[in-house]
Amino acid sequence: MSRVEVFVDAAGVARAAADAFEALLRERGKDGAVLGLATGSTPLPLYRELVRRHREEGLPFAHATSFNLDEYWPIAPDHPRSFARFMDEHLFDHLDLPAARRHIPSGLTPVPGLAAACQDYEAAIAAAGGIDLQVLGIGVNGHIGFNEPGALPGSRTRMVELDDSTRARARGDFGGEEVPARAVTMGLATILEARRILVLATGPDKAAAVAAAIDGPATTALPASWLQQHPDVTWLLDAPAAAAR
Ligand code: PGA
Repeated sequence: MSRVEVFVDAAGVARAAADAFEALLRERGKDGAVLGLATGSTPLPLYRELVRRHREEGLPFAHATSFNLDEYWPIAPDHPRSFARFMDEHLFDHLDLPAARRHIPSGLTPVPGLAAACQDYEAAIAAAGGIDLQVLGIGVNGHIGFNEPGALPGSRTRMVELDDSTRARARGDFGGEEVPARAVTMGLATILEARRILVLATGPDKAAAVAAAIDGPATTALPASWLQQHPDVTWLLDAPAAAAR
């Protein structure tokens, strides 16, 4: 069942998402919440709000564990556009979440060991008790994580080829440098196992994908449409992202 909440602006989306994280972190306390995290421009206001609540209100992350959705491949963790670097800059450097409990797929695992590394990632999620709360953005092509159109609902953490449209949108971020053609991503089945999912979408570019994912049929042409099959999904939208419904 999908719930849909619409806010006047991206700040409202960020506050609502931060409220869900705060409630979970406080409820779990020392038992440790397991957070599923995303990169991209959409979750940035959420991360700013979580950092503010940590600094100003003492919201603790010391017992939490995190798993990120994806990483480019190949890419070094200290590359300015790696998702590892993004998470450090925008979240981890400003929180008390222990480094040993932050997980991001490696963008450097050589292909011979990659399938095993992906299985290890799935096993680490399971060993942590599963993801309590997964935050997602949505691509204009309906991707979640780097599960591009065509991804199967049973897919697991694996190497994927990026859509030309995804690489084209990332081109500005990479300056003149070539955008990696591949990535390692949690699969749709991995994502759908999270106990609760928040999908954040802001801005008019996302309106068509949002409407089709919520109101259209579940189809491999639009990976986010498989979220309809999850029992606890909340879409947090600003008004422009909700405009095509
Ligand atoms: P964006 O990316 O937040 O940068 O728009 C969303 C996504 O591709 O999942």
